[in-house]
Amino acid sequence: MTGANETSTTNGNTNGHTTMPTTESPRPLNLTGKTAIVTGSARGIGAGIALELGSRGANIVVNFTSESSRSNAEKIVSKIESLATGAKAVTVHASVVDKVGQQALIDAALKLGSGHIDILVHNAGNGDDRYLTDITEEFYDMQMDINLKAPIFLTQLALPHIPRGGRVIIVSSVSARMGVPQQTVYAASKAATEALARVWATELGQSRGITVNCVNPGPVATDMYYASDQSFIDALKPMIDSTPAEARIGEVRDIAPLVGFLASEESRWVTGSVVSASGGLLFF
Ligand SMILES: NC(=O)c1ccc[n+]([C@@H]2O[C@H](COP(=O)([O-])OP(=O)(O)OC[C@H]3O[C@@H](n4cnc5c(N)ncnc54)[C@H](OP(=O)(O)O)[C@@H]3O)[C@@H](O)[C@H]2O)c1
Repeated sequence: MTGANETSTTNGNTNGHTTMPTTESPRPLNLTGKTAIVTGSARGIGAGIALELGSRGANIVVNFTSESSRSNAEKIVSKIESLATGAKAVTVHASVVDKVGQQALIDAALKLGSGHIDILVHNAGNGDDRYLTDITEEFYDMQMDINLKAPIFLTQLALPHIPRGGRVIIVSSVSARMGVPQQTVYAASKAATEALARVWATELGQSRGITVNCVNPGPVATDMYYASDQSFIDALKPMIDSTPAEARIGEVRDIAPLVGFLASEESRWVTGSVVSASGGLLFF
C-alpha cells in the first residue's frame, strides 16, 4: 500500500482510449469528512468515480489489482490530494475476490478518515465476452467472483463500519437487461447485482440507514469496451449511433457525476434503484 505524492493529469486508461477523467466544474464539497472505497479505481469508470468523490471532499481508497495500474493509481491519489479540498487518498493493491484483499481495503479506509466507511462503490469488473458454447466453469467462476461474489462479501465485511447515512453503489450495466450476444455470464452477473440493490435497500434501510443503488452505464469508452472483438464493436455501432441523447459512445465523465449524486445526502430518498446512464439507449 502506498500513498504517493506525485502530481499528474495523465490518462486514466492504460491504452489511451479516453483522457484522465476530470471534474469540469467545481463540485459542491458535500462529501467532506466522508470516506469512500472505490474498487478498481486506477483507470476507466472507477478512476472517474474516485476523482468525482474526491473533488466533493471525500477521502478515497484507490484500489488496483494489476501491476500495470500501479502508477495510474498513484497519480489518481496525487490528483485527489492536489484538489485542495482537504481530502486524503491512498492506493491499495488488492484483488476484490480475495479475503485478504478485501480486508486490506477496509483497513485502509478506516485509517484514512474518521474510522467509518461512508461510501462503498463496487466498480471493479470483468467484461470478457464468450458465446454460450465457449463458456467453461473456470470462466464462469472468474467472472462471477469479480462481478457478483466480491460485492457481496466486501459489503458484508464493510457493514459493521458503515454508519447511518451510508451509501453502497454498484456499477452494473445495461447489459443486465439487453440480451447482447456473448454476455451470458456477464449479463447474469450484472442482473444479479441489480437484485442485490433491491434486497439490500430493504435489509439495510430502516435498520441501518444505508441506501443501495445501481448505476447502469451503456457502452463507455474504456479499456473494457475496446478489449471487445472488433465484430462486437461493429455490431454495436448502429445502436450507439441511435443513442437518443447524442450519437456517440458514453464517456467516463457521463457516469461519474451520477455516482457523486448517489453518494451525497441529497440522494437520501433513492434506494433500491437502477439508474440507467446510457444516454437513453435503455430507459430503465
Ligand atoms: N466500459 C463499458 O462499456 C461498461 C459498460 C457498462 C458497465 N461497465 C462496468 O463498469 C465497471 C468499470 O468498467 P470499465 O469500463 O472502467 O473497465 P476497465 O477499464 O476494464 O477497468 C476494469 C477495472 O476493474 C478492476 N478489476 C478487475 N478485476 C479486479 C479485481 N479482481 N480486483 C480489483 N479490481 C479489479 C481493474 O483493475 P486494474 O486496473 O488493477 O486491472 C480496473 O480498474 C465494471 O463493473 C463494468 O462491468 C462498463
